[in-house]
Amino acid sequence: MKVLITGGAGFLGQRLARKLLARGYLTGRDDMRRDITQLTLIDMVAAPDFGDARVQVITGDIAEEAMLRQVIDRDTDSIFHLAAVVSGQAEADFDLGMRINLDASRSLLDVCRACGHQPKVIFTSSVAVYGGRLPVVVQDSTALNPQSSYGTQKAMSELLLNDYSRRGFVDGRVLRLPTISVRPGKPNQAASSFASGIIREPLGGEAAVCPVSPSLRLWLLSPRAAIDALIAGHEIAAAALHGSRTINLPGVSVTVGEMVAALTAVAGPAPAALISFVANPAVERIVNSWPGAWDSTRAIALGLRGDDSFESIVRAYMEEELGIL
Ligand SMILES: NC(=O)c1ccc[n+]([C@@H]2O[C@H](COP(=O)([O-])OP(=O)(O)OC[C@H]3O[C@@H](n4cnc5c(N)ncnc54)[C@H](O)[C@@H]3O)[C@@H](O)[C@H]2O)c1
Repeated sequence: MKVLITGGAGFLGQRLARKLLARGYLTGRDDMRRDITQLTLIDMVAAPDFGDARVQVITGDIAEEAMLRQVIDRDTDSIFHLAAVVSGQAEADFDLGMRINLDASRSLLDVCRACGHQPKVIFTSSVAVYGGRLPVVVQDSTALNPQSSYGTQKAMSELLLNDYSRRGFVDGRVLRLPTISVRPGKPNQAASSFASGIIREPLGGEAAVCPVSPSLRLWLLSPRAAIDALIAGHEIAAAALHGSRTINLPGVSVTVGEMVAALTAVAGPAPAALISFVANPAVERIVNSWPGAWDSTRAIALGLRGDDSFESIVRAYMEEELGIL
């Protein structure tokens, strides 16, 4: 089968590609197990060489419909639509966010519709679709009330994916991801960048500035569990998704203070001493609007899993990314 990942050079895109190549198969549109014969990665920046003949790397802009028509045809069985500009960037540049996070999503769905073969489309949404006065634990029925352009663009794309699925144009699955932590590498422009930075930088011996208060509660998922959930979300039988194509993924609910305590429990007191708290109202305004937990009963019933605790997330980061522990 032929699989496409948009944003295939990104953080989750590269990890998903590696996992799919190692696994070698997915459930096809006919509900049969199919070997992955081609994995196309499209991104604005070139994805690395995976050294695998099944991989096709395309560098291009998914906001150009011609580019989407080049990578999607009637043989494209599954699309993991990950390409996006992150929350801070979409807030700083309204037009860019609309173009990539909304217009390109609609174009992608329209190109699928024109092909007429109902491919599976897995779309990564976010905690940012919620906002305003929220219950302590957000329910599936809680109204979407995004407080950022990014969250608004994700919410609109979610609705489109649901309707294009209802109309039979695609077989869509919206997976609402908690904030991913611990993300390796450099800080990015996501408002939630600190949720990785306050663990990653101190473990690398560097100082970290936390822009929010220790009492802020976050809903988090490790990169490994996120990738497992994307694949598990793909594998759910369409018949099990009756009513809604949107699934709130499991996560762990922790305050920033509890994250720092988990860091100390796993790595001792030295890393946490490198964290200082300097409020950044622009970041606080966005992340304070996000839920600190949501009910993931439906996701769990559908076979999706999160992490055991934030300590286990820190441990996994140290083992997998730093090669220690
Ligand atoms: N990481 C998180 O905490 C998190 C949380 C919730 C949702 N998500 C969503 O998951 C998805 C993947 O996130 P990520 O952390 O890997 O982000 P990322 O920024 O690392 O990857 C996104 C990729 O999309 C590419 N891209 C952007 N615009 C493009 C365009 N016009 N054409 C082609 N490629 C383009 C970027 O170059 C980048 O490589 C995104 O949709 C994001 O909104 C991520």
